[in-house]
Amino acid sequence: MITIHTIAELRAALSKERFQGKRIGFVPTMGNLHEGHLQLIDQAKANSDIVVSSIFVNPLQFGANEDLDNYPRTLQDDQAKLESRGCDFLFAPTDAEVYPHGREAQTQVEVPVISDLYCGSSRPGHFRGVATVVTKLFGMVQPDVAIFGEKDFQQLMVIRRMTEDLSLPVEIQGAPIARNPQGLALSSRNGYLSAEEIEVAANLNRTLRDAAEQIKQGNKQFAELEEQAQSQLEEVGFKRDYYVICRRDDLQPANESDTALVILAAAYLGPARLIDNIQIDL
Ligand code: PAJ
Repeated sequence: MITIHTIAELRAALSKERFQGKRIGFVPTMGNLHEGHLQLIDQAKANSDIVVSSIFVNPLQFGANEDLDNYPRTLQDDQAKLESRGCDFLFAPTDAEVYPHGREAQTQVEVPVISDLYCGSSRPGHFRGVATVVTKLFGMVQPDVAIFGEKDFQQLMVIRRMTEDLSLPVEIQGAPIARNPQGLALSSRNGYLSAEEIEVAANLNRTLRDAAEQIKQGNKQFAELEEQAQSQLEEVGFKRDYYVICRRDDLQPANESDTALVILAAAYLGPARLIDNIQIDL
């Protein structure tokens, strides 16, 4: 695997591949890689000839009181992991390479409506930062296909919508959520949790599976199910963020006639904010 730090070198390397007719698959990340990220690499490999991953902790998507400074940066470990899964190129630019005019002067990409819901409402400006950096990374890498995890379900929807609205020539693929044996979705932020908190954290997915089961059995009392799950989470030590039974196509709260659903959940546990979701087809 070749690690590249500048846009000019990246373009030179990839234009050779493209000239040979190679299909380029892309997996953008913020590093501190775990098995969930590596499964995206596997999927990219299965759907392209050349796999490019990026590691960039994007300051534009972090709020003022969030964990930008503490976000784990583990480049050497990450390089070894990517290499072991057959990634061809790692692009790891500096802040100045990505935002040469500074962050404030950066043109930004705003995906309306969907960006204001849920994670967007808890983290104002977050999805603008994500949409902006992903647009820029697409311009740098010019991939044929890009893979995003369904763990960040709303993010995947924002990116799909942005790609469509801006007519970007990139196929967007979602990838299933990788979990630990207890069901906890793998996340770089799980590293903020103690061993005891990791056990408690698995309850987030447990409540999602319970609620999904009840919905499949015909329970359409969505508000009640949401409240029940939130209080179960509070009982074991979580603090509330959101827990919403949505319809899958636009993430608006579901009504009784919807058949393709997703439950989106976020909650605070100790120092971490955890998210998870489950899809339901009726
Ligand atoms: P990051 O949190 O590093 O995640 C990179 C990719 O890995 C995302 O597509 C995310 O959905 C996926 N991912 C993380 N945990 C996963 C899991 N347990 N199972 C499956 N996929 C998982 O998401 C970002 O970075 C950034 O917002 C980014 C898109 C790179 C823009 O800065």
